Amino acid sequence: MTIRGGFMGRMQSGEETSYDLKSLDRRAMQLIAQYLRPHRTRLLLAGLAMLGVIATSLLLPYLSKVIIDDYIAVGDLTGLALFALLYLALNGLFWLGSYWQGYLSTWVGQRVIYDLRRDLMHRVLGQSPDFVEQERVGQVASRLTNDVDALSEAVSAGLLNLVGDLLLMVGIVIAMALIDWVLTLVTLIAVPIVMFSMAYLGRQMRRAYRDVQQEIARVNAGVEQGVSGMRVVQSLGQESFTVEQFQELSLRNMKANLRVSLLFAAVFPTMTITNMLGMALVLSFGGMRVIQGATTVGTLLAFLAYIQRFFGPLRELSLIYNRLQAAGAALGRVVDYVDREPAVAEPETPQLPEGGFQGRVALRDVTFAYEPDEPVIQEFSLTIEPGETVALVGATGAGKSTLAALITRLHDVQEGAIELDGVDLRDLPLAALRSNVLLVSQDVFLFPDTIRENIRYARPDASDDEVEQAAQRAQAHDFIQRLPLGYDTEVGEAGALLSGGQRQLVALARALMVEPRVLILDEATANVDAHTEALIQQAMNAIGRDRTMIVIAHRFSTLRAAHRILVLEDGRLVGEGSHEALIESNPVYQRLYQRQWAENGAEATEQA
Ligand SMILES: Nc1ncnc2c1ncn2[C@@H]1O[C@H](COP(=O)(O)OP(=O)(O)O)[C@@H](O)[C@H]1O
Ligand SMILES: [Mg+2]
Repeated sequence: MTIRGGFMGRMQSGEETSYDLKSLDRRAMQLIAQYLRPHRTRLLLAGLAMLGVIATSLLLPYLSKVIIDDYIAVGDLTGLALFALLYLALNGLFWLGSYWQGYLSTWVGQRVIYDLRRDLMHRVLGQSPDFVEQERVGQVASRLTNDVDALSEAVSAGLLNLVGDLLLMVGIVIAMALIDWVLTLVTLIAVPIVMFSMAYLGRQMRRAYRDVQQEIARVNAGVEQGVSGMRVVQSLGQESFTVEQFQELSLRNMKANLRVSLLFAAVFPTMTITNMLGMALVLSFGGMRVIQGATTVGTLLAFLAYIQRFFGPLRELSLIYNRLQAAGAALGRVVDYVDREPAVAEPETPQLPEGGFQGRVALRDVTFAYEPDEPVIQEFSLTIEPGETVALVGATGAGKSTLAALITRLHDVQEGAIELDGVDLRDLPLAALRSNVLLVSQDVFLFPDTIRENIRYARPDASDDEVEQAAQRAQAHDFIQRLPLGYDTEVGEAGALLSGGQRQLVALARALMVEPRVLILDEATANVDAHTEALIQQAMNAIGRDRTMIVIAHRFSTLRAAHRILVLEDGRLVGEGSHEALIESNPVYQRLYQRQWAENGAEATEQA
């Protein structure tokens, strides 16, 4: 059944890719080094603190052996007191070392997250908007949250702890061997048992956790789709079918959670029992050697202390491979983002028009394709004079929106050139281009914030007065004032509380905040009520007086108000002139007119 296929299919959102640690290539290492370099002083201090911790960890058990064997056993009270003080002091050092190591490495880790996240966001916003459509918003978000977190853990605290754990374990084995190598060999029997049991549990846990994550994502998607598709579900009478599907997902979620609980329940007893095993080995074999006179009671105590300090890191190391693998996968994905070229590059030698920005737009033999060999704009040539208002018309898919995207340089042309006041767009500093050529697109996007902040967004330092002036010029002021909270009205998700026409007026006001020399307007729809239509037309007349306007027209009144109408077909310019001239002589325009505007006189019907 296709619905079921689609419904379930979209929930298979698991994007877990296994990543070979060996292919953590040079680029990845380079990236880590690059982000750690500014913090090398802190890392060095953390390393020193770590060495202090290791040294005291090794000394303390030995000290207890000395206290027992050399002072308590012979009844030396002053010696005992002195060594007890030393023991206390070393414990103090241990505390300080641990504190600074933890603090410094966490600081570096958080700072790396912060830097990396900022750079990644910058990279993402430098991509063409198509990028987000291909990658899905959720996936991009997961790059910037989960992946960066997984990475930072491994980069700072993780790497340092790994080195520290290894050093400490080597140190402990050496210290034990120096005191009593026979007992050391016997004690080490416990090591492989601890390692294998923990590694096994760790692997199972990771798999189980991943399943839980996936099942949670599926349940969420199930809720979202069921609820947002509620109208369809109810009108087709498929409530029980949908509930059934949902229950199936819930059941899988429950089973996955139970698996995690079972494994988790095994972890603590396993840890305890392996500890006990080590202690039992020391007590029985060590005890025998004490009775034989081959070793001392102090040695036994020191060994008990050493293995406790040994097994902690050993357990960590058994688990760390998994964690490093997760970090490696995250790193691979992050590197892929960091190395993405921006969609349009800042010019190497920026130029500005000699006479300042006037608003003359020229296209010279422009050809552009999204996919190789499928040109959407072909050999397109056109000049628009400063202050001119032109209307673009053409059937859906003719290339109107693409043309608008090219003139605002959201994409670069493949052949030919687009110039603003005589300068190739690719030679203009991006900031200058963005504040002089502005596109108000078909699907107006408003942030879930107040109307005031949505307008101010184009120029965050603008005053409330300036915001209201822009709204006035865009003919948005009156309707905003009539809202109960006026400019402080929250527009809701994606501007849902405003009508299409009102959203367009707010977007116009936002565009006017930057006073662009060239304003491109992709009209949302032909369908606005007569009142809003009059408002938009009034606003456009006022706005168009002192700037160049390119309007992708869906309303007949726009065509009437334009100085010139350009007719597009399959990415080519096939006619230009006034409505009267085109309706006389241009077959493409005649067809368009018949279909869109003729039926209801000046009233339009088709959406594009
Ligand atoms: N991001 C894109 N990737 C690939 N093809 C696209 C993209 N955007 C538009 N197209 C294609 O380019 C052609 C022109 O689209 P568009 O410029 O949106 O036309 P219009 O705005 O006139 O309806 C269409 O065939 C469309 O399918
Ligand atoms: Mg379009």
